[in-house]
Amino acid sequence: MDKGASKRIVVGVGGGIAAYKSCALIRRFTESGHQVRVIPTDSALEFVGSATFEALSGNPVHTGVFTDVPAVPHVRLGQEADLVVVAPATADLLARAAHGRADDLLTATLLTAQCPVMFAPAMHTEMWLHPATADNVAILRSRGAVVIEPASGRLTGADTGPGRLPEPDELFGLASLLLERAEALPRDLTGRRIVVSAGGTREPLDPVRFLGNRSSGKQGYAIARLAAQRGAEVTLISGVTAGLEPPAAVEVVQVTTAEQMRVAVDKHAVGADAVIMAAAVADFRPASVASAKIKKGAGEPDSIPLIRNDDILAGLVQARRDGALSAGTAIVGFAAETGDEHGDVLSHARAKLQRKGCDLLVVNAVGEGKAFEVDSNDGWLLGADGTEAALPLGSKALMASRVLDALRAHLG
Ligand code: CTP
Repeated sequence: MDKGASKRIVVGVGGGIAAYKSCALIRRFTESGHQVRVIPTDSALEFVGSATFEALSGNPVHTGVFTDVPAVPHVRLGQEADLVVVAPATADLLARAAHGRADDLLTATLLTAQCPVMFAPAMHTEMWLHPATADNVAILRSRGAVVIEPASGRLTGADTGPGRLPEPDELFGLASLLLERAEALPRDLTGRRIVVSAGGTREPLDPVRFLGNRSSGKQGYAIARLAAQRGAEVTLISGVTAGLEPPAAVEVVQVTTAEQMRVAVDKHAVGADAVIMAAAVADFRPASVASAKIKKGAGEPDSIPLIRNDDILAGLVQARRDGALSAGTAIVGFAAETGDEHGDVLSHARAKLQRKGCDLLVVNAVGEGKAFEVDSNDGWLLGADGTEAALPLGSKALMASRVLDALRAHLG
């Protein structure tokens, strides 16, 4: 999507307590310049009043098909939309949509929509796991709708388990990805187990100081989030990030140092279909960690002796050669490159792919406003089989979707 391009988005709101989160989602869409029509169900209005939806979207709100009849809203809203997002989608709403009911404005709109449709389910765990709901989700997916995986966590009351509506930021990210690329969320990684590392490591110097880097973790988190939404069982080994929320339906293992990351990656890589090393792992660490805070003293500072950390990616490739890791485990590396007097970004990246021995290398061109702490990336995707594809400038979610396409093709 062009930055700032205005799209017509219908936000359907089902009758669940999570309806309150749709307000923040609607706001994200309107702040991004999109035109939003909100269509709640009657029961959604038990949770959030229509005045709130009207004020947030700047448009009138109706639940039935007999208001504003001359404008034929039950046909027009669906036909004209660029995206329909239903959040929260209750068990009842999924059932009605799956069976083609058209007994209110929202379900009628779902039957006329020609654009991508994304359902974000939210309900109690028992209802989510019930075979009736699972069948309804399968029907909707088989017809091309995107039904995203709910988050796990605290539901209304004391219950925990899958069924929670992901946070508005996450819903906004997935919806924005569908606007960028309508086919970005297939269920083509179902049955795959994928390990993703993300974020930066911190190498302690003393109890209050460390050597770190500027990695935000956004690219790795985007890959983990999308892999889970494409059906994979995902473990995210997370170093230090810019305070990112754990993605829905992803197991997160938190680590701090490169050594902790190596141990966690090696453990979870066993039996995985793919390991994606998006983390910015420190190449070196201080040779010793002072047990008390280092004082500045009077003279010039001491230099800090460093020792090399293990290269986790190279270790995975070696483990696969030795048979400790299955030959079928795909290994994906990342490289942040600038050109220099020895070669351009691409020639450095080709050499790194050779050196590291991984199957795919995602190359980010780094420079002003690129790669670090920003929301967009560009670069190349290099395959050990000699394939090279340019990754055009786009969101980190879009880049994640292209990386997963390449991985999917590699896995066969
Ligand atoms: N990596 C790793 N373990 C390390 C360092 C890096 O697994 N100790 C992984 C990163 O996660 C990334 C890839 O290796 O997937 C590339 O890292 P990079 O630091 O760019 O590679 P280097 O071989 O260290 O090359 P350079 O000389 O450019 O620093």
